[in-house]
Amino acid sequence: MIQAGKKYPKAYVANPHMLGENRLPARTLLIPAQKRGITHKNFTESDRVLLLSGDWKFSYLREDTTEPFYLAGQDDSGWDTLRVPSMWQFCGYGTCYYPNLRYAFPYDPPYIHRSNPVGLYRKSFFASCAGRRAVLRFLGVDNAYFVWLNGQYIGFSKGSRIPAEFDVTGVLRDGENLLAVKVYTFSDASYLEGQDMLLASGIFRDVMLLFTGENTLQDMTILPDVSGFTVKYNCATGRTPAAIRFTLCDADNHLCAVQEKPVCAKGEVFLPLENAVCWNAEQPYLYTLYAEILENGAVTETYTKKAGIAKSEIKGCLLLMNGRPITLKGVNRHENNAHTGRAIRAQQIEAELRDIKSCNLNAIRCSHYTNHPLFYELCSELGIYVMDEADCETHGAECSGDLGALNKDETWFDAFFDRASRMYAINKNETCINIWSLGNECGHGENNDRCVAWLQEQDVKKPIKDNNNSMADPDGAYFATTGYMPMQELRDMTAKTVRPLMMLEYAHAMGNSPGGLEDIWNWVYENEKCCGGYVWEFKSHGFYVEGKNGKPRYLYGGDFPDRYHWSNFSLDGYHTSDGTPKPSWAELREVSAPVFVKWDEHGVSVKNTYDFLPLDGVTMRWSVSADGAAVRKGEDSLDGLQAQDKRFFALPLETDGLSGLVTAECTFVKNGRQIAQKQTILADLPHASEKTAGFEHSITETDDTIRIDGTDFSVTIRNGLLCGLTKNGTVVLDAPMQLNCMRAPTDNDGIVGFSPRLVAEWEAHLVDSMRFGCYETQIEDAPDAVTVTADGKFLPHSHFWGFLTTIRYRITAGGETEVSVDMKPYGNNLPSVLPRIGMLFVLDGAYAKCRWLGRGPDENYPDCKAHTPVGLYEAEIADMHFLYDVPQETGNHGDCRSVTVSGEGKSLTVEGAFSFSCHDFSLGSLIRARHADELEKSEKRYLYIDHKHRGLGSNSCGPQPEEPYELRPDAFSWSLRLLADAAQ
Ligand code: GAL
Repeated sequence: MIQAGKKYPKAYVANPHMLGENRLPARTLLIPAQKRGITHKNFTESDRVLLLSGDWKFSYLREDTTEPFYLAGQDDSGWDTLRVPSMWQFCGYGTCYYPNLRYAFPYDPPYIHRSNPVGLYRKSFFASCAGRRAVLRFLGVDNAYFVWLNGQYIGFSKGSRIPAEFDVTGVLRDGENLLAVKVYTFSDASYLEGQDMLLASGIFRDVMLLFTGENTLQDMTILPDVSGFTVKYNCATGRTPAAIRFTLCDADNHLCAVQEKPVCAKGEVFLPLENAVCWNAEQPYLYTLYAEILENGAVTETYTKKAGIAKSEIKGCLLLMNGRPITLKGVNRHENNAHTGRAIRAQQIEAELRDIKSCNLNAIRCSHYTNHPLFYELCSELGIYVMDEADCETHGAECSGDLGALNKDETWFDAFFDRASRMYAINKNETCINIWSLGNECGHGENNDRCVAWLQEQDVKKPIKDNNNSMADPDGAYFATTGYMPMQELRDMTAKTVRPLMMLEYAHAMGNSPGGLEDIWNWVYENEKCCGGYVWEFKSHGFYVEGKNGKPRYLYGGDFPDRYHWSNFSLDGYHTSDGTPKPSWAELREVSAPVFVKWDEHGVSVKNTYDFLPLDGVTMRWSVSADGAAVRKGEDSLDGLQAQDKRFFALPLETDGLSGLVTAECTFVKNGRQIAQKQTILADLPHASEKTAGFEHSITETDDTIRIDGTDFSVTIRNGLLCGLTKNGTVVLDAPMQLNCMRAPTDNDGIVGFSPRLVAEWEAHLVDSMRFGCYETQIEDAPDAVTVTADGKFLPHSHFWGFLTTIRYRITAGGETEVSVDMKPYGNNLPSVLPRIGMLFVLDGAYAKCRWLGRGPDENYPDCKAHTPVGLYEAEIADMHFLYDVPQETGNHGDCRSVTVSGEGKSLTVEGAFSFSCHDFSLGSLIRARHADELEKSEKRYLYIDHKHRGLGSNSCGPQPEEPYELRPDAFSWSLRLLADAAQ
């Protein structure tokens, strides 16, 4: 059935010159309809569209077959039913793979030396053609596929994320039809589709039939400009004379211009505009263009396309939109869903885009392929700049010694060109696209350069992210791109670049991550040569299954039968696999806010970081607070603060006469909605100290234990460690306090068994075995205080390193206990960094609530805290963590001055300067759990009081924390006050 003379199937699936057969030329993806107003959003309302998605018959075969399964007579009664769109691995057929930067097969392009399962699809449907042209449109099929209609071969296509169309006029019948599709898991195209994601297959986007008259619009290129819209178009002509009418309306659907021409193969019209309004991400003004075919004066079909005036270009080091420099506050986004893979619904696309907008972001990079057509339509409407990316990545070619091996190989030019040129042809009219990208991690080569040259000659011109090395060859590239850089690299590159510096990927959000965003953006806001960039990435790619006790579990590399996998590296989104935003999403929202502030002792300077919009209608509510309570407040208006301008507000920031942690904060509000909150710590001032009074007490001392009893309390210290606190006869603490420097490693710290990095170092140093070894204790008994001093070492098992340590307890009236710790490192071969340094109190299960003065309400870390102002907060202990897909360190609160845990009529308060976390699971359980459902709750409560906690960094694919947030094994000294309370 397939073309004579071609060796089936190798001539198709192992042949980079075979890109498609009988495919219609790629074109703008319009939706024909009788009425106006039909676009991708509401295409099912069109009377010219027959949607073929829904239940199909499906057969999954481990190997290819030559059976003519596409013939009507073939029996499919034993086949399964599969929903289309879907990816079959997510429906129980075969398995996903996660090879990331390797291929899933031996490297021998264009051959696939491994089993290559196929999916056979059959769909019966009724159609009524009524003599019309019929086009069959597939929006996305992974990976290569043959199509038959009513037993007749229709064609073949590759390019998983690129829509393809076939003319089926004459083959489609009135009445019942049978559409059959054979989909291959792999083909030579897989060499160009080595993106970092779960590999999965099938018809994953909609399939539809489009009906048109003989006279019809085939393609158009819209070229909007302030003077008007030029439209270049191609039509198919029929026997009846016909005209094509272009009508341009403004955003309120008022008529701007109209032009009518006879239908002809190729034409051009100009629709003039007066007082044109331009589009940008902050003011997404769209015109609507209607193209109508008229026969005998009556409209026979209509095409509707919204478009805006959005000229994107580069001048020197500036990226411009309609002549003004813009900053990309962007995110890399894959199309993905934990239940369905890349088969995602319209609602999900829209919800994600709204989420991105409300995170104060204005840009998306389509990493790493062309997206669903609805995506572009919505980005234009909502106001999001899009870097559209060709469906192209050859990461696995790196094993040959050159990531760009295929890019340099002429044999593969057709395939590279097919992907770039189809991206252009299909998406050329999408207003939101301000940058074309020729793909991700394809190395550099001639094929790339020829595609760039071709793109530069097309009608729609935009800057190109072209895989060139911009620093080495600034003239040959549009952008200087960088990724996952430490601050110093950002500074150095910004100083040197003669092109806009773009952070193509940065701030890797794997697990509890990233740190450092605030520093990066403080830099970007003050350096116009950096045009911003795209964080990595929107959402994690776990594969949903039901886990323990019905809880969700998200699988990753190593959970599938894949020997060569990349573990949980694809769980690297700002949202967990189920779409829950991580705390770092709030951090990103805060640093991307349209206000950027700088404090000095006289007030605050506010910069409007929008590129177009003034901050009219924004109110700044400011206050000065001591220990979370406002002592002064007021408000100011930001009316008239133009885009990119600054205004200084003098504020009464003096701290004289105040005590405690003194902060100044500004909350920016528009229409009742908070758009940003900024805070600075002004001073940390001592509280007036109370004189300690004498109190009645007795001391009992045995070999290893000292007990101090007062009238209403008892304090016990064993082997130098506080191990009991009783108040009014109630046991508040009954387990030894531990010195602690371990945390459950974040993915940035390292991944056990995959990429251990610091985890390996900590394991080698047995950091988790550290304990306090006591030499001796001394007691000083005074009428107003009993002081117990314990000398010893905080040290690991079997190593000669640790800290010479003195712990001093000063017990005063009521059992109030001040604990002071002094540590000095000793020994050789100390670990380069520590996760944290502090202590752990293990409490009984009676404690349920937590109140604190410090950063909150969400978790925060020294280099990820902009979203968590200092204040007074309260939470249930059971809720004081974030459940990452792979559990890890969580729930830290920095800059704290007090925390109280309470329950069942008793409480323990810790005061001092510290960070803390409090959990109802142990450190061991957190470390052991490799999926969220495996985290085991405990009967105990674990209160970690840290003198210091290491920053997060981005080291799973980026830098370690910057030095100010790093935790080196230095000398440490800190002290705390413990107060027990219980009902009498
Ligand atoms: C980049 C790559 C992305 C992703 C990321 C790490 O180098 O372009 O696709 O793999 O690393 O998650």
